[in-house]
Amino acid sequence: MMIYRGLAVVLFSGLLAAAAAAQAATAADSGATVSLTLHTGVNGPVISRNIFGQFAEHLGRGIYEGIWVGPDSPIPNTRGIRNDVVAALKALRVPNVRWPGGCFADEYHWRKGIGPANQRPATINANWGGVTEPNTFGTHEFMDFLDQIGAQAYLSVNVGSGTVAEAADWLEYLTAGPPDALGAERTANGHPAPYQIAFVGIGNESWGCGGSMSAEYYLSQLKIYSHFVRSYDPAHLFKRIAVGSDGGSSDYTETVMKAWQSHVWSWDIDTISLHYYSVGKWPPSFKATGFAENEYAAILKETHRLEDIIGGQEAIMDRYDPQKKIGLAVDEWGTWFTPTPGTHPGFLEQQNSERDAVSAALGLDIFVRHAARVRMANIAQMVNVLQAMIFTQGDKMILTPTYHVFRMYVPFQDAAAVPVSFDAGEYVQGDIRLPRVDTVAAKDGNGKLWVAVTNIDGTRGATVEIAVEGKRTRGARGETLTAPHLDSVNTFDAPHTVEPKAIAARVEDGKVILHVAPASVTVVALE
Ligand code: AHR
Repeated sequence: MMIYRGLAVVLFSGLLAAAAAAQAATAADSGATVSLTLHTGVNGPVISRNIFGQFAEHLGRGIYEGIWVGPDSPIPNTRGIRNDVVAALKALRVPNVRWPGGCFADEYHWRKGIGPANQRPATINANWGGVTEPNTFGTHEFMDFLDQIGAQAYLSVNVGSGTVAEAADWLEYLTAGPPDALGAERTANGHPAPYQIAFVGIGNESWGCGGSMSAEYYLSQLKIYSHFVRSYDPAHLFKRIAVGSDGGSSDYTETVMKAWQSHVWSWDIDTISLHYYSVGKWPPSFKATGFAENEYAAILKETHRLEDIIGGQEAIMDRYDPQKKIGLAVDEWGTWFTPTPGTHPGFLEQQNSERDAVSAALGLDIFVRHAARVRMANIAQMVNVLQAMIFTQGDKMILTPTYHVFRMYVPFQDAAAVPVSFDAGEYVQGDIRLPRVDTVAAKDGNGKLWVAVTNIDGTRGATVEIAVEGKRTRGARGETLTAPHLDSVNTFDAPHTVEPKAIAARVEDGKVILHVAPASVTVVALE
């Protein structure tokens, strides 16, 4: 029995759940209809729009080419930022962008990225291919980009190779007004008004590329950075995000949360992070295309693990913070495959197939189910890198299947989660067993009910019957994302192979009946 964790539990006794679990196996075998019940009488948590956040690192063609082409480029741009990419991202209502890394953040020195472009020093991007980093996309350009797409800033400060003073100065430069000298320098560089910064990450993967620090050593750094890296604009304070778990490990989460429980006035955090990639095997060895159904299922199994991994992090956090004051930010997640043949291996370019779309929807569903604790997530990464929304090639741009999922889920941003009970059935592929379908529901600010249904089964379609407890439904309309093959992709020659299509459901006896294709993602509004 797939249930909405933490809330629907109160709706089902253990006995009922066990009986339903037994039923689930039978339902799967017979390929029976999957029945969902929306419990609109139970108030679920708000689904923070920030779980639909993005991550844009100075890595490969993510920033340069993908976002920044420079003001003199023949590619249409506004102050150097591509117009096509901005327009596409606006449709996603991107809530926040994490920048400048990733591993890059712990080697980034912000002063090299301010001032007249022709006077900025070039550096080497040691993490990602040893290529030249021109520093032409720096602080002001990032903030301009955010302004153009309507997103908030999530900056990662350099704890690994930087200093507390450097990080503190960066936030002072960004947020201080007169008579502050750093604020005056920002004014001289073209931005008199203080910038608003929503989130500041204190380091990135400090257990790995961010400095290989023990949890205790990181905690000592966190306390210092959290105190001195501050906003100088009392009307706009930012949230501090601590480094947390590596793929479900517990040492950082334990150490930071335990210390936070008895923290004194001089340091604090709002959020702790979790990084988790659906890889299959490390180093990444699964191909992004040309795979069979066993690798489709293997990657989805990896994504499905997020449910338990988040559950594990929640259990630790609940011990030290039962009131859920501290949020969990899954601020790096997504698929990670072998690089596209012919591309620079350090650029992490990979194609994006229907499998990525199903994986994205499953990940988002898991965040929605854990919305009481998961307040942010940042898919890796926004353009041209890993599980990207967008690919660019010269002046061309295409949208990936993952982009379409994020666009279809826009109505879930800041909506109230609605518990769903359902009998998922089972998808069996070799020795992999997964729920056959996944689903989440939410009520938006206008009272409209939205349901997302992901058919994980790579072979069988499903009939989904949606009932709203105590209410008859008149219909449902929305979009469905399907593809001819599990590894179908969009290319510059064929950019529309995987695209959402309109779907309307029939109604029987006050219940919505939807037919969903194998490996598909469907989002409908109930009428
Ligand atoms: O997203 C690519 C890299 O993965 C990031 O730079 C790093 O934080 C993680 O290991």
